[in-house]
Amino acid sequence: MIGRLNHVAIAVPDLEAAVAQYRDTLGADVSDPIDLPDHGVTTVFVNLPNTKIELLLPLGENSPIQGFLNKNSSGGIHHVCYEVDDILAARDKLVADGMRILGSGEPKTGAHGKPVLFLHPKDFSGTLVELEEV
Ligand code: CO
Repeated sequence: MIGRLNHVAIAVPDLEAAVAQYRDTLGADVSDPIDLPDHGVTTVFVNLPNTKIELLLPLGENSPIQGFLNKNSSGGIHHVCYEVDDILAARDKLVADGMRILGSGEPKTGAHGKPVLFLHPKDFSGTLVELEEV
């Protein structure tokens, strides 16, 4: 059901410092920041030949990333994103298999303008999994 690894997301306490590190120290192609108020994050994409790294900074009150940074003050891996062809079919299969979808269970629009869902980390070896329809 899942396809390519779309991105690995890393929560960062200082977005400018993280951008400078990926762009200048590692020599990667880095996007401009994108604010996603629905998700409570500002994101920057680091474009690698085979996948992307998504740098996440909290945006606004009640950002889920702020809680993560409170526990991981230097930042850390926040989620992995796998591609699926049909997000509703994927959701229905996961729910039928006893997995939990975070939030309302309805897809939201993600950073690439495509529908995304997040799966409960306790159902996936302690890893927050994002599914993105491509
Ligand atoms: Co993501």
